[in-house]
Amino acid sequence: MTPPPRSNVQADLWSSDPRGWAEAAEGRIRPLYERTLDRLQLRPGTRLLDAGCGSGMFADLAAQRGADVIGLDVAPGLIEYARRRRPAAGYVVDDLERMPFADGAFDVVTAFNSVLYADDPRRALAEIARVTAGPGRAVVTVGAGPEQAESAALINPLARRNDVPDLGKLDLADADAARGALLDAGFASVTVADIAFDVDFASVDDAVAAQLPAGPVTAAVRHSGRAAVEAALRSFFAPRTRPGGTVRMGLVFRCYLAERA
Ligand SMILES: C[S@@+](CC[C@H](N)C(=O)[O-])C[C@H]1O[C@@H](n2cnc3c(N)ncnc32)[C@H](O)[C@@H]1O
Repeated sequence: MTPPPRSNVQADLWSSDPRGWAEAAEGRIRPLYERTLDRLQLRPGTRLLDAGCGSGMFADLAAQRGADVIGLDVAPGLIEYARRRRPAAGYVVDDLERMPFADGAFDVVTAFNSVLYADDPRRALAEIARVTAGPGRAVVTVGAGPEQAESAALINPLARRNDVPDLGKLDLADADAARGALLDAGFASVTVADIAFDVDFASVDDAVAAQLPAGPVTAAVRHSGRAAVEAALRSFFAPRTRPGGTVRMGLVFRCYLAERA
């Protein structure tokens, strides 16, 4: 049997617990959003698309800075949450590999940690380039720190292969490969910067709960069972426990700023 396109798989996986994602997970990477906004210096009325917007935190922050924002995500559950709780932006349920927007429709396109989940990440980058105006800018980010790689190496093997990102198609954490793919997609120039910060959880339980709504973790639970996944997550977080019981994880995001001529 032909497996369903990955985007459909992702729509289901990422819709498993929208509230959990929005309230326990998404806010942990707010420093990435804020530093990106500082760098972008949006103007009132800037047409901004957030592709793979999740539950809408970045879309909302960009709208608060005056941009005219649309968030797009393939997961209906996350978009429903965003529409209800983050109404300063508009939202669309769709696939970032086939976006329902005209060429050059946006001055700025952001894609935080979403392109890696596309069935064909290169096609997703080509779509991002197509809808970015000339001149215009796109920001594409991916988790690229050793601790993120270590946790993915524990969780992804517990899921079906087709449900988790296939780095063989394009490893966005590889700066040379990603820069080449963005240039091939139609951008004229690409600069790379890493944004690093620590995330603190109140306890190992809190850290585990923050991971469970994520697509790959949901895929692992469905395939291997919750007990196996929780055990893997606890083995990852236990050594990161600090005096007082809090847990600290270091995150690094590789950020590509791509410009259209
Ligand atoms: C790691 S989350 C990132 C969400 C948010 N941008 C953030 O940084 O927290 C990945 C997001 O990509 C979305 N996604 C995965 N494949 C997609 C696709 N083909 N088209 C649009 N969104 C997709 C998921 O539904 C999910 O919201």
